Amino acid sequence: MPWKRRPYTGGTLERALNIADLRELARRRVPGLAFEYLEGGAEDESTLRANRVAFEQLRLLPQTLIDTSRRQLRSTILGAPAEAPLIIAPTGLNNMLHPDGDLALARTAARRGIPFTLSSLSTTRLEEVAARAGGRLWMQLYVLKDRALARDLMQRAAAAGFEALVFTTDANVFGSREWDQRNFTAPGRPTVRAALDMLRHPRWLYEVLVRHGIPRFRNVESFLPPGKASAMGGSTVLPGLFAATITWDDIAWIRQFWRGRLLIKGVLTAGDAERAIALGCDGIVLSNHGGRQLDYCVAAIEVLPEVAAAVGGRMPIIIDGGFRRGTDIVKALALGAQAVMLGRATLYGLGAGGEAGVARALDMLFTETDRVLGMLGCNSVSELNPRHVRRV
Ligand SMILES: Cc1cc2nc3c(=O)[nH]c(=O)nc-3n(C[C@H](O)[C@H](O)[C@H](O)COP(=O)(O)O)c2cc1C
Repeated sequence: MPWKRRPYTGGTLERALNIADLRELARRRVPGLAFEYLEGGAEDESTLRANRVAFEQLRLLPQTLIDTSRRQLRSTILGAPAEAPLIIAPTGLNNMLHPDGDLALARTAARRGIPFTLSSLSTTRLEEVAARAGGRLWMQLYVLKDRALARDLMQRAAAAGFEALVFTTDANVFGSREWDQRNFTAPGRPTVRAALDMLRHPRWLYEVLVRHGIPRFRNVESFLPPGKASAMGGSTVLPGLFAATITWDDIAWIRQFWRGRLLIKGVLTAGDAERAIALGCDGIVLSNHGGRQLDYCVAAIEVLPEVAAAVGGRMPIIIDGGFRRGTDIVKALALGAQAVMLGRATLYGLGAGGEAGVARALDMLFTETDRVLGMLGCNSVSELNPRHVRRV
């Protein structure tokens, strides 16, 4: 009889062994409308699935009989030291998952020595994150129809000491995440079904909605129409705000307001990477937005080898999409990424247990990455190279 995989039966952070366990904990702890916002991909969710399947097609090739007792994960991200080649990705509405949302993610990143990226659509003001979290802070930028909003964010982020700006370019048109849309009739107005489900999660209801009030798009609320700043049901307001007019010419416009490091998030071709270099950008994030924008899109890890070949070390390449294991991280580093952005992996930790849950997620990924390095015969991430990976 074949060995049967036991389902996850723990119920605590301590018993969670991997990111999938944290996902299961988060799924139980937060109501469907928050979990579906976190989890959902666009339309048929083909991109979302492809982001995971792509890792299945890459196998690791170890070298044996090498002393790896001195291994460590320390690396350089955008020219500054980091404890691991990891960054927390920008995600909006984090306080829907846990009342500490953005702060829990930022503080844990600071403690573990990796950068944290705050979303334009965060539920905590960027100044509050800078004052209460510290660490290496990056600001994600959406350039929406009302350009004053982007200008305000850039100027405030610069004043608050954010180190880098991450301009997200793959949301010129807003993706359709149908799971999320089904839960709301208007901003702040869940459907009856979604409301009943919230009542079945009294701890979340009290902590997130009653004690702290419905999360709002704190960073940009002064630019939103009255009554539209509730982060609950953002999918009913956001599509109309995004600007299909953004182009490469806007890099020069951004540079008028932002003198720090500038990364372009949403690049997936060698041609666009070349363009980013030519315009003096400081790096790119290869990303399909976690499968939430274009459906049937390539996975970033699939195009990484060709983009890395074209870039040839002239600019750092950061990558995201579907990273849930140390093996995933090692594959990307071997194929030419300087660092990996974590989206849902750390959000599962947040939903599962706030700051302690995020710490648990990072511990898991640090430990797994370190273990994989050792088994491949490497002492540091700089020893990884494309020969460690084979496409099957
Ligand atoms: C719940 C959620 C919210 C997100 N919000 C933003 C955002 O506000 N800005 C942005 O540039 N990307 C956003 N993203 C995309 C992430 O930055 C990142 O590209 C993606 O999550 C990576 O895929 P992964 O979740 O599989 O790791 C969001 C992703 C998720 C899951």
